[in-house]
This record gives sequence, structure tokens and C-alpha cells, in this order.
Amino acid sequence: MEGGSSDRVEKYPLQQIRGVPMLSFVVENWHRIEGFKAFPGDVLIATYPKAGTTWVQEIVDLIVNEGDKEKCQRAPIYVRIPFIEMFPPPPFKSGIDLLEKMSPPRVIKTHLPIQFINQSFWDNNCKVIYVARNAKDSVVSYYHFDRMNKYEPEPGPWNEYIHKFMQGEVPFGSWYDHVKGFWEEKNKRNVLYLFYEDLKENLRNEVIKIVKFMDRSLSEDIINRIVELTTFSNMKDNPMANYTTIPDSVFDYSKSTFMRKGQVGDWKNHFSAEEAALFDKHYEEKMADCNIPFRCDP
Ligand code: A3P
Repeated sequence: MEGGSSDRVEKYPLQQIRGVPMLSFVVENWHRIEGFKAFPGDVLIATYPKAGTTWVQEIVDLIVNEGDKEKCQRAPIYVRIPFIEMFPPPPFKSGIDLLEKMSPPRVIKTHLPIQFINQSFWDNNCKVIYVARNAKDSVVSYYHFDRMNKYEPEPGPWNEYIHKFMQGEVPFGSWYDHVKGFWEEKNKRNVLYLFYEDLKENLRNEVIKIVKFMDRSLSEDIINRIVELTTFSNMKDNPMANYTTIPDSVFDYSKSTFMRKGQVGDWKNHFSAEEAALFDKHYEEKMADCNIPFRCDP
């Protein structure tokens, strides 16, 4: 597996917030992130990074706009559905600055673990759509993202990165704690828990699930249109969804693209047999106390 060394300057090193590693600009702006409040009717899309966040953001924006393709071309996805923790240096706008200008009900993105979700989301009974992706494909996708994203810590070689992921030494911390945190709370709160693998297997079913969860009623035609517009190939070609609007001072497109492969089981092209065995053993220990039905194979 190709190494990840580069001359990248560690601009935003990891710092801990209550035991969870976060990028330093998130830590510096923590008072605003922690204090960000929801309004009734706001919808939160919550994920561990690389779980298919953008995919579900695009689906939700199309649902809200009843399948209107032009309306969903109004701005890049990170402007249409801002990311609470995004506090980039100027000239880029922060997620919260954008959210505060939007009139509720808003659709909001977060990667925060459940213990950091502002109480106002629960008090207002906001709908929360959580998307989880199997651990092996998540670590592969995160590795390539960290290679391309100059704001992320240098991932280093794959055979070291995999250990950082297993130990939760990556932005937003442990994958295991994140997926378990939302799973344990999902029946007590207004949470729809989705899987990337189900979206891949039957996108239509999952779109219908989201439509129902959002208390919407859409015609067959509109649902078919949403499914068509959110296939991997169509989103990859959509500049308002594929992150190609991010300048190369932030994303190094020679390393990867944001819409990279969009597959289930790409981990098989990255893990050696020894790495897979080690990862599986660690996974069993970390996940022994839960029964989340992850599927790893295509
Ligand atoms: P890969 O790196 O495996 O290709 P996030 O939006 O949470 O950062 O997740 C990004 C991952 O979701 C990337 O995975 C990306 O290709 C994939 N993805 C985005 N849109 C998709 C779609 N319509 N269908 C399948 N995968 C999609």
C-alpha cells in the first residue's frame, strides 16, 4: 500500500476535548460549537467521518426541495447544509456563521459524538439521521481523505494509519465509540439509524425510509428522480455535491478525489491478510458489548 508521507505542515494538530481528539481549530472554537442551539424542526445529519454524510445530505436536500434539481444546484453541499464544527480560517465561512443566517427549520451536519450534541436538539425533539459505515471501508476512506485534505493531520503510511484509527487517534476519535453511542440512544430519541451498505444495496428503500422519517409525502416520480440524482456516478459529476469547488490549497487532488470509489468492500484492496486478522480481533473486542448489524462484504 502506497505510503502517505509528504511535506505537509501540521497546521491543525489534534487536541483533546473530554478525551476525544479534535482538530485544533475545532478546539479553539469549542465554546461556539458546544453552545450551538437547535430550533424546533431542525434536522441533524450525524455521522462519523466518511460514512456517506454527503450522500445523505444530498438526499435530504432533494427531499426538502421535492426533487427539484435546479434548487439543489443553488450552492455547494457544505453551504446548503452547513457543518457545525467547520471553523476554517478566512476567507472560508464557518458552518455556524452560515447556520445563524438561515431561517429554521434548517438541515445541519455534524461529526460530533453523541455526548457532544447540544441538548437543544433533544429538547426540541429534532429529527436526527445517523449514517454508519462498516469499519474497514471507513478507515480506507478516511485514510484517502486525510491524504488529500491539507487541514487534516498527515496520515502517514497506511500500515501506521490503521493503528491510529483502531486507537481512535484521528479527528472525532474512536469509530467504535461513535457508532455505538448513537446506536445505544436511537430508540430513546428521535434517531433514524442508517447504514451505508443498505444505501448501496437498495437506495430506493433507504430514500423512502428517510422520506417517511421526515414526515414527507412524495410521489413515485419524485422518489425515482431523487434516487437517480443520488447515484454515485451522478453525484460524482455534480459540482455542487462532489466537493470540487474546494480549492487545491485545501484539497490536494493529485492524492485523491472526494468522490473516490463509493463502494462496499474496497478494504480488500488495502488490508493485508495480517492487517485484516488483527483488525478483526480488535473489532470483536471493541464491539462485543453491542449488536449493530454491520455488513462488511459486498
Ligand atoms: P469512498 O472514499 O470510499 O469513495 P462522507 O461524505 O461522509 O465524507 O463520505 C464520503 C464517502 O462516501 C466516500 O467514500 C464517497 O465516495 C462516498 N459517497 C459519496 N456519495 C456517494 C454516493 N452517491 N454513492 C456511494 N458512495 C458515495
